[in-house]
Amino acid sequence: MLIDIIAGARPNFIKIAPIIEAIEAVCKAGPAVDYRLVHTGQHYDKNMSGDFFEQLGIPAPHYNLESGSGTQAEQTSKIMIGYEKLLLEIPCDLCIVVGDVTSTMACSIVAKKINNIKVAHVEGGIRSGDWTMPEEINRIVTDSITDYFFTTSEVANSNLRKTGVQENRIFFVGNTMIDTLYKQMPRFAKPGIWSEYGLKEKEYIIMTLHRPANVDDQGKLKELITEIVNSSQGLPIIFPVHPRTAKMLEGLGLSYNNLYVTGPLGYLEFNYLVKNAKAVVTDSGGITEEATVMGIPCMTLRDSTERPETCTVGTNELLGTDPKSIAPAFEKLLSGHWKKGTIPELWDGKTAQRIVAHIVKIFGLG
Ligand code: UD1
Ligand code: UDP
Repeated sequence: MLIDIIAGARPNFIKIAPIIEAIEAVCKAGPAVDYRLVHTGQHYDKNMSGDFFEQLGIPAPHYNLESGSGTQAEQTSKIMIGYEKLLLEIPCDLCIVVGDVTSTMACSIVAKKINNIKVAHVEGGIRSGDWTMPEEINRIVTDSITDYFFTTSEVANSNLRKTGVQENRIFFVGNTMIDTLYKQMPRFAKPGIWSEYGLKEKEYIIMTLHRPANVDDQGKLKELITEIVNSSQGLPIIFPVHPRTAKMLEGLGLSYNNLYVTGPLGYLEFNYLVKNAKAVVTDSGGITEEATVMGIPCMTLRDSTERPETCTVGTNELLGTDPKSIAPAFEKLLSGHWKKGTIPELWDGKTAQRIVAHIVKIFGLG
């Protein structure tokens, strides 16, 4: 049996690392299973791709489709054409896609349309309800043709049931991004900027912004950053900038004494900074999960989330995208009134093992 594992963008690399480790253990046990790691090339800069392979010990991809950047249609079609060529040459028996990026959707469609190859979606079933986000379209399309759903929460299970998915195709397993977090926690590394900026534990904010709704309009981006800086009572704000956001910051001339702008950080350095921060300000999905597990207050600049457990159980709060909501949230944080969270069910570091155990059972590989 040949399993394809698809990864294209930064959060994918973090999610596939433990799955590959668990699959390799099964491959070593006998000749019945083999896998191919397919990198679509959606993210390609060293600090958005290669560094994660090095830090997380992910083996080099067997194939790189080198799709690169483009409009939604350009990127989707380049990935689809590349993956179709590969599958026509050597088909696989199961295609594992993770998360909600364009690579996830594009490869699931190709696999399904070539000989009805089975598709497994890790992180299936989550929904924000916001159809203006490309990720929501990716989730809906992927889940509409997925055979096996590996889910992170009961809410995801319930979303799937509502669309008529039979119970025997839903596997509530937990969160592979958290497998990586637990595994790598002892290796978190103090970045060089710690001493360069004179950072102190719990006395700075770490911020990431990359959602089109927040960053693609320079006026909006400036308004948000200015409000965050003005609300932070002078605490240093560390801002590792995503390449989409970097393009928009160019020429904006933003300069504040307590705003420290840097490039995307390695996983070990970034999460060192999250673990020791006073709080996180973000519009990321994965970072809200990591902040929840590490118990760090998290302010999310979005109107909705597909990960409601980070708010109901965890440390996350949705502030929306209106800058007016930022100052009251900082007042709550700085007066010591931020909620304490707990860790969502099955986010225990063993999710990938559960996924692979299910695959072994489903395909009779044991
Ligand atoms: C993508 C995902 C988003 C995810 C994010 C993680 C989709 C629709 N969006 O958004 O869900 O949260 O990745 O980081 O799949 N760029 C570079 N170098 C790179 C990669 C991108 O310079 O290595 C720049 C390019 O100008 C590109 C832009 O960033 O046009 C956006 O990249 P893209 O992959 O289209 O979307 P993201 O915003 O990264
Ligand atoms: N991350 C990182 N370095 C950074 C910013 C984020 O290693 O400078 C990691 C973060 O710990 C998380 C993942 O990237 O594991 C989240 O990716 P991103 O926010 O790009 O995507 P999303 O989760 O929103 O899809």
